[in-house]
Amino acid sequence: MERRTIGAAALAVGAVGLGCMPMSWAYNGSRQRGDESLRAVHRALDLGSTLLDTADMYGPFTNELLLGRVLKERRQDAFVSTKVGLLVGEQHIVANGRPGYVRRACDASLRRLQTDVIDLYQLHRADPEVPVEETWGAMAELVQAGKVRSLGLCAMGARGGRRSGARLYDATIRQLQRVQQVFPVSAVQAELSVWSPEATEALLPWCEARGIGFLAAMPLGNGFLTGTLTPGQGFEPDDVRARHPRFTAEMMAANQPIVVGLRRVARRHGVDVTPAQVALAWVLAQGRHVVPVPGTKQERWVTENARAAALRPTAQDLAEVAELPRAQGSWE
Ligand SMILES: NC(=O)c1ccc[n+]([C@@H]2O[C@H](COP(=O)([O-])OP(=O)(O)OC[C@H]3O[C@@H](n4cnc5c(N)ncnc54)[C@H](OP(=O)(O)O)[C@@H]3O)[C@@H](O)[C@H]2O)c1
Repeated sequence: MERRTIGAAALAVGAVGLGCMPMSWAYNGSRQRGDESLRAVHRALDLGSTLLDTADMYGPFTNELLLGRVLKERRQDAFVSTKVGLLVGEQHIVANGRPGYVRRACDASLRRLQTDVIDLYQLHRADPEVPVEETWGAMAELVQAGKVRSLGLCAMGARGGRRSGARLYDATIRQLQRVQQVFPVSAVQAELSVWSPEATEALLPWCEARGIGFLAAMPLGNGFLTGTLTPGQGFEPDDVRARHPRFTAEMMAANQPIVVGLRRVARRHGVDVTPAQVALAWVLAQGRHVVPVPGTKQERWVTENARAAALRPTAQDLAEVAELPRAQGSWE
C-alpha cells in the first residue's frame, strides 16, 4: 500500500488506516464481535493499513484492550494512534485535561495496549476548565519521557461551535496556534468525507502548510456513503446514528443521490469497485498529508477499504464528486 507521512516526525503509515471505534463503541452490535474484530485488525496490518486509531474512551477501555491483544504479537507492524481527555461518566461524557490525569491515563493506555510507546497521542477534547497549553505541556512531557512519539489534536467538538459567519474550524485553528507555541502538533483529526467536506475550506490547507498530518475521521459518513444502508432501517439506541440528523428515514432518502453519484463513478473503474472506495479515494485526493481512518469491525470491509488506496480517480471523477448535492440533515 502507498505510504504517507505524519507530521514533523515524518512517521510513515499506510495511506488508508483503520478506525477501531466500531469494534467497541457507537455502532450496531459493537460489543458482540470480539473475534471478528481481532481478525479485522490482523487483516488491516497484513494489507499495510498500519495506522490503528483508537481511544481510551472507546468501550470504555475495551477497544485498547482488544488492540493490545494484537500489538502484543505485532507491534512492529502497527502505528498506534490513541486519545486522551474524555471520560465516560455516569450520565455524560466529560473532559479531563488536568496534567496529573493525562500522565495517569497515558500509563493506563500503554498497559492496555501492551506496548511501551504510543506513536500518536491525541487530545480527544480540550477541557474547558484547564488552559489547553497546560494539557498540551503534560502531553509534551510524555514525548520527552519516551512514552509517546508524537502529538495530535482532535477537532470533533467543532460541530456545535460554529458562530454565524465563522468557518467551522476557525476556533480549532486558534486552538492549534496556541498549542503549537508549546510543542509541535504532528496531526489533526477531524471529520472529512464527501458529505462533510468543511475541513477542506481552511483546516486542511492550514495543516498542509505546516507539514501537519490530517487523520480523516468518519470518511464513510458513518457508513452512509458505502451505499449498504437502507432508508428507514433501524439503529440500536446506543448507535450514534439513532440520534444523528442525517440518519432519519427522510434524510437518508433525501441523501440517496450522493450514493448514486459515488456508484456512478465507481462503475467507471470496474464492476467490483464500490461507493465506499470512491468515497475514500476522494478523501485521499484532498492532500498527501491526509490519511482516512475508515471504521469497521469486519474483515471484508477492511479489505475493501484498503483497496481504495490503489484507486486512481481522474480529474473528472473528482469534479463529479465535488458537484454532488450537498448533504441534507444538520446538527445545527
Ligand atoms: N476523534 C474523534 O472524536 C472521532 C470521532 C469519530 C470517529 N473517530 C475515528 O474515526 C474512525 C472512523 O469513523 P467512524 O467509524 O465513526 O465512521 P465511518 O468510518 O465513516 O463509518 C463506519 C461505519 O461504516 C461501516 N463500513 C466501513 N467500511 C465499510 C464498507 N466498505 N462497506 C460497508 N460498510 C462499511 C462500518 O460498519 P461495521 O461497524 O459493520 O464494520 C461502520 O458502521 C473511528 O473508528 C474513529 O477511530 C474519531
